[in-house]
Amino acid sequence: MRKKIVAGNWKMNLDYQEGVSLFSEIAHMVKDEVYGQQEVVVCSPYIHLYALAELSKGIDRISVGAENLYQEEAGAYTGEISAKQIKSTGASYVIVGHSERRAYFGETNEVLAQKIDVALKFQLKPIYCVGETKEERESEQYFEVIREQLQKGVFHLSAEAFAQVVLAYEPVWAIGTGLTASPEQAQEVHAYIRKCVAEKYDETLANDTTILYGGSCNPKNAPDLFSQADIDGGLIGGASLKSRDFTDIVKVFN
Ligand code: 13P
Repeated sequence: MRKKIVAGNWKMNLDYQEGVSLFSEIAHMVKDEVYGQQEVVVCSPYIHLYALAELSKGIDRISVGAENLYQEEAGAYTGEISAKQIKSTGASYVIVGHSERRAYFGETNEVLAQKIDVALKFQLKPIYCVGETKEERESEQYFEVIREQLQKGVFHLSAEAFAQVVLAYEPVWAIGTGLTASPEQAQEVHAYIRKCVAEKYDETLANDTTILYGGSCNPKNAPDLFSQADIDGGLIGGASLKSRDFTDIVKVFN
């Protein structure tokens, strides 16, 4: 059975104290209220990682992740952060290829493939994001766009390495807009992604791959989204900044 995961992506929000306080609230709620097999991942700005990883110790199901990393292992890259540095904080996940990184920082599928490699080399589990823009959806190009993001970003991996990757489908038009993909729209793409994985690797690996949905996910729409056959959880932006909303989304899998 593949893992169910609800991951938060705080993006560039919360100062150090606010982040520690929010995580403490989430950790308490998760400890008291969550009893399914689902895993909770909180992806935060780098400044929070070590403190959150310390707080997560002793709570089995919560892990911490970074929102990005640099593709080189070390060196003269002022202001960047490496996989090894992230790993040393106690974090275990890293988001790779979020649409905001692709759009605002020009991250290409080729650079993202390097980021995936270096993350895996240092035992960080990548959450690799794919998704189409509004124009690509309207012109019915979304399957092609997503296939290319998968082919160039992660399909160079061996089956063994790919097994460490979590995928996330985040339609760009649904991020932070309040426009959620309908459960049927999301399911259609999730099933397609799983088919691409099966074609590249095999059915077993495809069935074991966790595929998250992201884009205006909230406690109201999460039950319908997460009940779709190929949706294994969510990557949550805005609602992950509120402990009650985030935990309620996690509890959909109770
Ligand atoms: P929102 O949930 O705010 O739409 O953000 C989704 C997202 O980008 C998560 O990575």
